[in-house]
Amino acid sequence: MSSYTPMSHYYDTIMTSGYYNYEVIAKSILNYTSAGKILEIGCGTGLIIEKLANMQVFDTICGVDLTEEMLTIAQKRLHLFPNVKLSLQNIIDLSLAEEYDLAFSYGGVWYFVIDGDAEPFLVSHLVNDVDNHQGFARLTKHLRPQGKLLLGIQGPHFDYDKVLSNGMVYSQKISPCQGGFIKDYYLLNGSEIIMQQTLHYSTYYFGEVQKLLETYGFKYKPVETKNKLFLEFEKL
Ligand SMILES: C[S@@+](CC[C@H](N)C(=O)[O-])C[C@H]1O[C@@H](n2cnc3c(N)ncnc32)[C@H](O)[C@@H]1O
Repeated sequence: MSSYTPMSHYYDTIMTSGYYNYEVIAKSILNYTSAGKILEIGCGTGLIIEKLANMQVFDTICGVDLTEEMLTIAQKRLHLFPNVKLSLQNIIDLSLAEEYDLAFSYGGVWYFVIDGDAEPFLVSHLVNDVDNHQGFARLTKHLRPQGKLLLGIQGPHFDYDKVLSNGMVYSQKISPCQGGFIKDYYLLNGSEIIMQQTLHYSTYYFGEVQKLLETYGFKYKPVETKNKLFLEFEKL
């Protein structure tokens, strides 16, 4: 299970030191819908949801995540927004009372990597096929017909070190493995390692993803836009 417990305490500092631009991510979601009920799968500490909630256009914003420590931070961040709901859930057992107009994952349970002109490939926090099937099966039950699924696009992963705003050094190391890759995350204060987390990811070719998603009623909607942040699928 892809728990972010070791990183949770440092997550915001790492991510807001230039890893993601949350303002731009949230604005990009507005290109797909500017009303209704939306669901983030793998919402972490709620950094995207906070930007979306501040826009005051959505009826309901729900965030699910399996790491309790991440959701505790999200809860503190978002408790003043009455239309935000958070739920501690693994996507493979997703069970919510409502149906959503749009679901998205940006660096959450699933995302795409696009390397130059190469075909996108899916990266999943779920390391086996059965769980990926079950995750999409549960997700489709929570989307209305014609509902949208947006999966974020990232650039290729590589090893790097970065000095954060608090002076610590964030470091990540990627090692390919059968069916995916392993990512080692570190946070160093001088020579002392103060956080270490290792996660396994599975990867799928684009053709495989389309087939997998079609099984659960999702059709790919190709849109030629420069610098887009998501690939879009529609529930038939
Ligand atoms: C890199 S964080 C992204 C958080 C957030 N989307 C953001 O942009 O800051 C990935 C999150 O996905 C969550 N996650 C991984 N596998 C999951 C699963 N099977 N079900 C629910 N959440 C999951 C992790 O707990 C973690 O908080």
